[in-house]
Amino acid sequence: MSILQQLEELKTQALCELAAVEDNKKLDLWRVQYMGKKSRLNEVLRGLSALSIEEKKTVGATANQLKLELESALKEKELSLGEKVISAKGEETIDITLPGRKPPVGRLHPISQVIDEMCRIFVSMGFQAVEGPEVEWDYYNFDMLNIPKEHPARDNMQTLWVDYENEKGERPMLLRTHTSPMQVRVMEKIKPPLRIVVPGKVYRYEAIDATHIPMFTQIEGLAVDKGITLADLKGTLYEFARRYFGSDRKARFRCDFFPFVEPGVEMSIECIVCKGAGCRLCSNSGWLEILGAGMVHPRVLEGVGIDSSVYSGFAFGMGIERIPMLRYGIDDIRLFYGGDLRFLRQF
Ligand code: PHE
Repeated sequence: MSILQQLEELKTQALCELAAVEDNKKLDLWRVQYMGKKSRLNEVLRGLSALSIEEKKTVGATANQLKLELESALKEKELSLGEKVISAKGEETIDITLPGRKPPVGRLHPISQVIDEMCRIFVSMGFQAVEGPEVEWDYYNFDMLNIPKEHPARDNMQTLWVDYENEKGERPMLLRTHTSPMQVRVMEKIKPPLRIVVPGKVYRYEAIDATHIPMFTQIEGLAVDKGITLADLKGTLYEFARRYFGSDRKARFRCDFFPFVEPGVEMSIECIVCKGAGCRLCSNSGWLEILGAGMVHPRVLEGVGIDSSVYSGFAFGMGIERIPMLRYGIDDIRLFYGGDLRFLRQF
């Protein structure tokens, strides 16, 4: 057997025996046998000078590497046996005077924390929080939201279709592109009056960069009852903005278009960085758009059998990642999902 093979065997044997060591006495014996003056490893190291230059290089490097490995394995073992001391009677006991070791405690992901905080605000206003499927039917994601097959609004949804084909040769299954399909699912099950919020993940086929990722989070809101008006929508969202962003933060509504609401609006808040003066973040407008909203389209209500001449409602949908990004000045959305603890520990 070559010296290298011998060292390899020695390593396996040493680590196996070390793993089986249970107390300090046995650890001492192990140390003498594998790392002491008369150990086989030391013998090899001492014999190096007798070898040729070539052999010296390979054998020397391997032997030194092995020495380091055994030393670090030994240290680890010493630490794990550290609390054990031998009592006067020669029995092993635990040293109860040593300070305890802190167990690693986890925490909620920053996005989960934001979701919790937002839900708490809406729940206090009488909304119920519900969740829905991330794999969705075309029917709920588009058709029932007044976005028929040929509608151009489908184009900017960058849909990720699921590889599933029905008998008609259609591919009607997708990863939901927004949380709005839950409006329909909830109205199918619960008759108004109803007030819900739906936090959850949504998916779009996006090229990844500092502000785009193919999976992100939204929170949807829906309220349906007799006599609900745009004033209720504005009142609710102003109150949300006041509680979440602070009472001195201005908010505004402007017209926008979504096929499943009529009229549709977008809500912006005063820029967090420049407070309305204009800066790079808000492209000099002083405002940051945070959500889309509107009065539920009569077609959506009728689609689930709700009489739109009796009932009306409002809905809104907000992207979640943008909010902590604005609040804490985070400039790259990928940080949320990179799993880097140095980032995550800050929340
Ligand atoms: N679902 C829309 C989007 O993802 C947002 C929205 C929700 C708009 C509800 C109006 C009403 O862009």
